[in-house]
Amino acid sequence: MSLGLSRWKWAGLFDRRPRRLPLDLPPELEFVMQDAPVAAPAAAPVKAGGAFYVERVTWIHHWTDTLFSLRTTRDAGLRFESGQFVMLGLIVNGKPLLRAYSIASAHYADELEFYSIKVQDGPLTSKLQHVKVGDEVLVGKKPTGTLVLDGLRPGKNLYLLGTGTGLAPFLSLVRDPEVYERYEKVVVTHTVREVADLSYRQFLTHDLPNDPDLGELVAPKLIYYPTVTREAFVHEGRITDMIESGQIFRDIGLPPLDPARDRVMLCGGPSVLTDLKALLLARGYEEGSVAKPGDFVLERAFVET
Ligand SMILES: Cc1cc2nc3c(=O)[nH]c(=O)nc-3n(C[C@H](O)[C@H](O)[C@H](O)COP(=O)(O)OP(=O)(O)OC[C@H]3O[C@@H](n4cnc5c(N)ncnc54)[C@H](O)[C@@H]3O)c2cc1C
Ligand SMILES: NC(=O)c1ccc[n+]([C@@H]2O[C@H](COP(=O)([O-])OP(=O)(O)OC[C@H]3O[C@@H](n4cnc5c(N)ncnc54)[C@H](OP(=O)(O)O)[C@@H]3O)[C@@H](O)[C@H]2O)c1
Repeated sequence: MSLGLSRWKWAGLFDRRPRRLPLDLPPELEFVMQDAPVAAPAAAPVKAGGAFYVERVTWIHHWTDTLFSLRTTRDAGLRFESGQFVMLGLIVNGKPLLRAYSIASAHYADELEFYSIKVQDGPLTSKLQHVKVGDEVLVGKKPTGTLVLDGLRPGKNLYLLGTGTGLAPFLSLVRDPEVYERYEKVVVTHTVREVADLSYRQFLTHDLPNDPDLGELVAPKLIYYPTVTREAFVHEGRITDMIESGQIFRDIGLPPLDPARDRVMLCGGPSVLTDLKALLLARGYEEGSVAKPGDFVLERAFVET
């Protein structure tokens, strides 16, 4: 497929991104919104029009007893960039309770998809894990985040390094045709504790490369590299160790990370981000943002409370 044709094809049919990039929210706002004030009495239904859209759950899939995905309806007014996150939540005890969630679906999709942990005593996910098709959820109106294509300088290969639910933003990016127009190879790594935690493996190895619309773009470029740390697997170990030892590059047939050529997005728990960032800085990488594009960008997959 030629570049020109694909641009034409996707621009009209699929582009539901914001016309302007939304301003980044200050980090404090994420947490303010988790306990947003109640505008209506407890018994009154929450209506769209405030800080949230009220959406309906359309699909749920439980991967394991600690991981699930859900899809919801999408308000026509919600626009986002691939890789961004949004607030997602429920009314709990008459009050909105929201948490930051990466959007896993494509920016052009009719529905929103989220990939979630189940924290047994977590204020939100102890309840969210029990939602059923048809239930209402709240979706914030202001998607934001750093894991966007425009945070990176042009490059040859794009590495999307995710651990745990940190895979979520990359599930949106790998469905974005622009990713394949900008990069020659797109390497998605997913590091988890156990093989059963490798959610979306079938999607990344089979469904997406064979998709009737996207497959032609994706199949020659997408490399999926799952690694497992706490049981036997074809690729065993932490992604940090795989990069340090060069194992991942031998396995996928690409040269070791080089800021002159390779761009990187990171999403994982706090310690993974610290270690991966140190590893990149030691190789001469510079962190980027939309205001000042660089060689890598990162986003927390969760915060320790
Ligand atoms: C920018 C951003 C994007 C996020 N995107 C997602 C996402 O796409 N999917 C998702 O499941 N969560 C995501 N989170 C985490 C999410 O905001 C909540 O923390 C999570 O939904 C649990 O909510 P809770 O109220 O049940 O428990 P919380 O009180 O929020 O968390 C309790 C504890 O559980 C652990 N924990 C929380 N979330 C995770 C997680 N995702 N993986 C592993 N351990 C976790 C942490 O130790 C935390 O201290 C994101 C967080 C941030 C800051
Ligand atoms: N299967 C499960 O038991 C399970 C599944 C999901 C979530 N949870 C719960 O959710 C919480 C977080 O679990 P999580 O697995 O999603 O996230 P996590 O603890 O961040 O681990 C995710 C993956 O990242 C690796 N990792 C952790 N720190 C790293 C570092 N500094 N550098 C490189 N790699 C690193 C882990 O390897 P290591 O194994 O070597 O640490 C693991 O493979 C925990 O409280 C856990 O109880 C449990």
